[in-house]
Amino acid sequence: MRITFLSIFPESFSSFLDYPVIRRAIKNGIVSFEIIDIRDYADGCFRAVDDSPYGGGAGLLLRVDTLTNALNSAKTDRARTILMGPKGKKFSQGIAHELAKEEHIILVAGHYEGVDERARAYVDDELSIGDYVLTGGESAAMIVAEAVTRLLDGALRGSAAKEESFENGILEHPQYTHPALFDGKRVPDVLLSGDRKKIECFNEIEALKETIRLRPDLLTCDREFNYCSLHKSYGNEAKIIRWMKKRLPVPEILYDDESYLLLSKERGRALKDSTKNRILKTSAMILKAFWAMDISDCPCSENIEMTIRKLKKKRLSYSEWTALSEIEKTNFNEDYVFSHGNLTLSNIIINGNGLVMLTGMQKAGVADCYRDIATLLPSLEEAGFTREEFFVLLGLKIDENKIQFFQRLNSLTY
Ligand code: ADE
Repeated sequence: MRITFLSIFPESFSSFLDYPVIRRAIKNGIVSFEIIDIRDYADGCFRAVDDSPYGGGAGLLLRVDTLTNALNSAKTDRARTILMGPKGKKFSQGIAHELAKEEHIILVAGHYEGVDERARAYVDDELSIGDYVLTGGESAAMIVAEAVTRLLDGALRGSAAKEESFENGILEHPQYTHPALFDGKRVPDVLLSGDRKKIECFNEIEALKETIRLRPDLLTCDREFNYCSLHKSYGNEAKIIRWMKKRLPVPEILYDDESYLLLSKERGRALKDSTKNRILKTSAMILKAFWAMDISDCPCSENIEMTIRKLKKKRLSYSEWTALSEIEKTNFNEDYVFSHGNLTLSNIIINGNGLVMLTGMQKAGVADCYRDIATLLPSLEEAGFTREEFFVLLGLKIDENKIQFFQRLNSLTY
C-alpha cells in the first residue's frame, strides 16, 4: 500500500516514519510513504498557501488552488483522497479496515482555520478523529495511517490485530503479565491454568464485561459470541432463569447488571433444524414438563390481566387498541401453568442426547396453558403436523377459542 501525506508542515511526519511498527512495515515492503509539501504547489510570487476568508472571520484558510495543485500531483489512478478535518465522518476501526483494502490513500492535513469550502469537491472523503479541534490535521493523518498500516498483512507479528479492541465490535479483554501477584492483586487463576479453552472462554466473558462497563454504546443489539450470548436485559429473563435453574435446562447467568445479561451457550442446535418426529415429540415433552412444574413460588405472572396492563403502558396504534378492546371483552377461566411466553422451535436447543436448553424467556411466567400452545402451533403446522396429532401427544382436547384468543393476544407484543 502507498500512503501519501499532504501537509504544509512536512517535517511533522519524521518521528512517525521512525516508529518501530511503521519502520518495519516500510522495510518489509508492506507500505510506502510519501510526504508532499503543499507549499511547493503554491502559485504566484508570494507562494501563498493560505488566505483570509471572504466575508470576514477569524484565521486563514488553505487555498483551493494550491491544495488542488498538490492533490493532482499526488493522485494515482486508484488513489482514495481523504481530507482530515473535524467536520468529517468519525474515524473507526471499521473505516481502518476499509482503507486497508485500498492501493493508495492520500491524507490531506488541513490547517489554520480550515480549508476553502470548494476544496471538498476534490476529495473522496473527509475524516475526523474525534469531536474536538486540532490546530492541524497532521496528527490526525498519522493516526489514520498507523491504524491502517498495522492492519496490513505482515505488519504485526502473529495474529495480534485479530484479538484487539473493536475487532469484534467489543473491547479487548484485560491482560496481565509478570508478576502473578502484585500489591495483593492476583492474576486470575484460570490464566495460569494452561487450559486453552477455559482461557478463551474466560477472556471472551471478561471482554464483554469490560465493554458493558466502559463502552456500552458499542453494544447496540443482542449478539452471539463463541462461548456466551449477550442480551439487553429486559422482561423476566434473569428472574425466570434463576428460578428455572433446578427445574429444566436453562443458560447459566455469567453476568447480570440490570442493563445487560451474559448467558452461557451450550453446544446444540435449534429444534427447528431437527427431524420431523423429534420436533413433535420434544415440543409436547417440553409443554408437559412445564405443566408438571410447581408454580407456587414462580416469581413472574403473565396472566391475561397482567399482559393487558403491560400492553396498555405501550404506545398502541389504533388497530392494536381496537384489538385489545375486543380481547378485554373475552372472559374465561385461566388454567395456570408455567409458560415460556415465546416458545418457538428456535428457542428450544437440543443435541443428540435430548433437551440442552430453553432460551428467549423474557416473557416467561405463570399463565394459561394455551399461551405457549398458541405460539408453538404455527411453526408445528409449518413443519407439516396437524393440530390433532399434537393434541393427542399433549393429552388435551383442542380448544379453538383459546388458541385464537392467545394468538391475537400474542400478536400484540409488549
Ligand atoms: N483537524 C482539526 N481537527 C481535526 C479532527 N478532529 N480530526 C481530524 N482532523 C482535524
